[in-house]
This record gives sequence, structure tokens and C-alpha cells, in this order.
Amino acid sequence: VKRITTNTLMMMKQAGEKISMLTAYDYSFARIIDSAGIDVILVGDSASNVMAGHETTLPITLDQMIYHASSVIRGVQRCLVVVDLPFGTYQSNSEIALASAIRIMKETGAHAIKLEGGEEAIESIKKIVSAGIPVIGHLGLTPQSIYKFGTYAVRAKEEAEAAKLKEDAKLLEEAGCFATVLEKIPAQLAKEVTESIHIPVIGIGAGKHCDGQVLVMHDMLGINTEFKPKFLRQYLNIFEQATEAVKSYVNDVKTNDFPNEKEQY
Ligand code: KIV
Ligand code: NA
Repeated sequence: VKRITTNTLMMMKQAGEKISMLTAYDYSFARIIDSAGIDVILVGDSASNVMAGHETTLPITLDQMIYHASSVIRGVQRCLVVVDLPFGTYQSNSEIALASAIRIMKETGAHAIKLEGGEEAIESIKKIVSAGIPVIGHLGLTPQSIYKFGTYAVRAKEEAEAAKLKEDAKLLEEAGCFATVLEKIPAQLAKEVTESIHIPVIGIGAGKHCDGQVLVMHDMLGINTEFKPKFLRQYLNIFEQATEAVKSYVNDVKTNDFPNEKEQY
């Protein structure tokens, strides 16, 4: 199989071919997602929410991200694997940021890292890129800053924040990011950013004009049913189906229907 690289994504933008990206956090789902033909798997710090049950992404640690990422890597043959730098492992100190990125690359075998922020993250991004580590940016609703925003509402609806976001996107490109995520911003703004920079723009809740789309696997498969924003398209309802399956199993055990003659030695 031909592997997807950062160059592949750049060529896809130039060719107008949309980039598909989903999160994954473990070996088994990574296998499913990779074999289904996804371009990029993001080992997102959303693991803090959907894997660990935290309310925010802030508590997850670098060691925990490394555990998830190394599990994902073992399930993947084709797609590009990108890992989030978690909260507190890169902010405002480029030496620490580089050390965190190096740990991810060395200990997991992942292909790139992602971190949140614009201007304030540029020094760290440059340092990481200069070490040969590909970086994806993340602008708009950046969940690690949720206590600054105070709300998960759409970002950059006002002109000042929109102008800043456009400026930040340019800075990310100049700093050497090979792509950026735009989260929960108006579709028109995402379109303008996508047209104004040369690196691929991957949207989540950012409309159809981005170069690609990303969703959290647990949301789109209906494993996590507590989160239903307008931008989410839910393709399955695993929560419901798995609940029915478990109920059937419980019933089969209680009624001594399972195991039957064929299911024993
Ligand atoms: O952690 C995550 O899942 C993400 C995506 C929503 C972009 O950062
Ligand atoms: Na994230």
C-alpha cells in the first residue's frame, strides 16, 4: 500500500481532492478506519472526553497521549497519523514544546503532531518544524482554551476575531505548518482562509469550502450520544445497537441459552 504523506495532502489541495480525517485512539478502531480508506487519523486530545470521560481536554497527559498513539500506529498501514500535543506540554515554552513533540515521534512512531493556537504558538511551531517534525495548526474554537472562551459557541463571528484568525492562519503557513484545522467558525470565513493560504485547511464545523473535514469518531459513529452539535453528521448509532446487544447477552446468560451445545468443548 502507498502511504499518505504530508506531501500527498498538499497535492490533494492543489488537485481539489477533499481530505478525509477522523480521530482514533486505539488499535482496533484504527484498523477499521485505516482499512476503510481514511487519509488521516488524528489521535486527538478529545481522548480526554470520549475515552476517559473528562468534561474537557485539559486533564489528559503526554504519557496517556503516547499510549493512545502507539496503539493507533500498530493498527495502521496506509493513512497519515497525527497526534495532538496535550494541554500544558507546549504552551509558551518552545524548548518544552520540542521535547514533547520528540517524545511523541520517538515513542509512538506517529508521523506528525498538532497543536492549538496562532501567533502565541509560532515560536514553538518553528522549533518543532526545524527538528524535522511535521506540524498541523488548530485555530477557531480551540478546546484547550475553553476556560478563556467560557463557551463552546461558534468563534470568529465578529470582525476583529475573524481578522485575527486570518492573520494567524498566514502565520501558521509561514512558520512551516503543513496543514491547519479550523474548528467551529463561519463557513464564509473558513472559505476565505482556505483560499488565502497554500496549505490544506481541515474543517470541523467550518463548512464545505475547506480542503478536508475531520470529525471525532465516537460522535460520528454514535458511540458518544451526549454531543450533538449542528455540524455533526451521525452515521451510526452504536450506543443503541451495543446496548441492545449487551441486553441480549445478559438475557442469554440469565436464561442459560448461552452457551449452547455448539459453543462448548
Ligand atoms: O482532539 C480532537 O479530536 C481534535 C479535532 C476535533 C480536530 O482536535
Ligand atoms: Na484536539
